[in-house]
Amino acid sequence: MLIVANWKAYVEDIKKAKKLLAVSKRLARAVDATIVLAPPSPFLSALTAHNKSKVSFAAQDISHTTGGAKTGEATAQAYAAAGATYAIIGHSERRALGDTEKIIAEKIEHALAHGLTPILCVGEHERDSDGRYLSFVREEITSALGLLMPKERAKVIVAYEPLWAIGKTATEAIESADLAEMVLYIRKVLAELLPGKSSRQSLVLYGGSVEAANIRDLAAISNVDGFLVGHASVDPAAFSLLVKQLT
Ligand code: PGA
Repeated sequence: MLIVANWKAYVEDIKKAKKLLAVSKRLARAVDATIVLAPPSPFLSALTAHNKSKVSFAAQDISHTTGGAKTGEATAQAYAAAGATYAIIGHSERRALGDTEKIIAEKIEHALAHGLTPILCVGEHERDSDGRYLSFVREEITSALGLLMPKERAKVIVAYEPLWAIGKTATEAIESADLAEMVLYIRKVLAELLPGKSSRQSLVLYGGSVEAANIRDLAAISNVDGFLVGHASVDPAAFSLLVKQLT
């Protein structure tokens, strides 16, 4: 299982960031799960320095530029130099601020060029009874991966994050059966984009109100490879409890 802790802008001081790292290191020793922390970028170097644990790090986003006169931008190369090995790309909170399909595809290329594993977020705004949400998700995946070489496509992790389920409570998250169906659908879309059996290596995650109260059920029947956890990842006790559900 892969657990990606998306701290968003919830963590605003280094003391809290270090506390969450210490808890994650203990959890990484205790459970059979890979933990990836996505801190706000100013904290990244301090957390990755001297890290010999199994905990890895992600950028919450990367620039669509490759450097130069771009005030405020942090490139894939800069994140890799600071110790990140993953990059969350296309999160709905970034799409809302202007990330288009084209920008997202470029970011994925930059991430791969600098050895960062892209975690591509996709997900519909709402579920309609005609199943249009399925083609919406298909389109998001296809436009993000379409221009990549097939062997690069296999490296991209897809995180299904329906917008209607983000930032709520476990009771408002997706039902396990609906998640199972969506994971199957995403694997089918990936199989169409990847030659032969290589899509079997692709990881599919779920995010949206994952908490200790629902993670076990969601994992049990959905055949998902892991979770992207937001609000429940920034409280040390809640995060600990959540990860321990997977043992
Ligand atoms: P949430 O956020 O767990 O707070 O719903 C998940 C995400 O947006 O990645």
